[in-house]
Amino acid sequence: MRFPPFQLVDWFAAAEGRFDLSLSHSDCEPLSLSDLFQESEFANLADFRLGYGTFAGLEQLRSLVARQYTTIDKNDVLIFSGVSEAIYTFMRTMLNPGDEVVAQSPLFHTLHAIARSLGCKVTEWRPTDETTCSFDVSALIELCNPRTRLIVFNFPHNPTGQMISESDLRRIIETARRCNAFLFSDEQFRLLEMPSVATLPAACDLYDKAVSVTGISKTLGLGGLRIGWLATRCEEVIAAAKEYRFYTTEMANTPCQVFAIRALERGDEILARNRRCLAENVERLRAFAEQHRERLVFHSPKAGTMTMVEQKSPLTSTELCERLLDDKRVFLVPGNAMGMSDRLLRFGLGRDDFVQGLDRLGDFLQGRIPD
Ligand SMILES: Cc1ncc(COP(=O)(O)O)c(C=O)c1O
Repeated sequence: MRFPPFQLVDWFAAAEGRFDLSLSHSDCEPLSLSDLFQESEFANLADFRLGYGTFAGLEQLRSLVARQYTTIDKNDVLIFSGVSEAIYTFMRTMLNPGDEVVAQSPLFHTLHAIARSLGCKVTEWRPTDETTCSFDVSALIELCNPRTRLIVFNFPHNPTGQMISESDLRRIIETARRCNAFLFSDEQFRLLEMPSVATLPAACDLYDKAVSVTGISKTLGLGGLRIGWLATRCEEVIAAAKEYRFYTTEMANTPCQVFAIRALERGDEILARNRRCLAENVERLRAFAEQHRERLVFHSPKAGTMTMVEQKSPLTSTELCERLLDDKRVFLVPGNAMGMSDRLLRFGLGRDDFVQGLDRLGDFLQGRIPD
């Protein structure tokens, strides 16, 4: 099986070593080990034995994860090396060539690319407005039929920060039930809603063929630990994923699971801090776009860590981002890298040094772009 290029990650890889400020990363401010542990606890870590762990993931971690759901038990949870591995494992085990898949678009690349590479027929659920990315659930329902094997979506949405209502989520679930389809809900940015926006229920709590995936990379700023998980009441999915992993990683990294346990124990505190940072940076970006209104149009995100801004310079977004990288050592992702319009820019709102990044972008916008 061969995969198409993963343009977004290619963009990140090409920029490695060329920036010292990022305005586009999708994680919250990364934590250090000393943010998680007291100094006195480091001695206990030194004694931690580095043998194999357990196939499904450490029991204590799975129990903590299960608390994020209302109907999920620790045996309904599998710990993976990041959400990426959970996505890959599900798609490889539950899809066959020729299967019909309905997938939101734009969407985090692997959520549709693995299905396509497997030879599935992927139908895209496009937004009603390509710039703000508002999604009409009635349009998704029309795309589904009794042959639909899988429906895939991601709310809060990467990269636009858009949401659907709980009643719309329930309509999708009714459609999946009617078609007897699996539902794959990427909830990587769940629990990071803006202050006035309600958290959606996890799909795995609403339907027994729904799979919810999330982790600690984005919400808790711990992407380097590579810990994510899949939660579902569907025994067929759990059994197939467990079996498949014997051919890939077998189990997730044990010390990182121990760090993840600590992070989840302190999850409320870390999330509250990160939500505050996101809300502040949204307002900073709104004010910045207003100050540069001849160049930028801001669209409010409802949740998550990102939003898209339209830029009206004579450059494409790809050209603008390349020049910003070279001139100011600031990293920004153009819409094109996510299959979107190249008049869009992706802003990541979770970092503490967002203001410094905006300052440099402001200098760049004032200085370099020809009218
Ligand atoms: C929507 C979405 N799903 C999954 C992933 C993969 O996450 P992880 O780093 O936990 O593998 C990402 C990473 O950017 C993402 O944005």
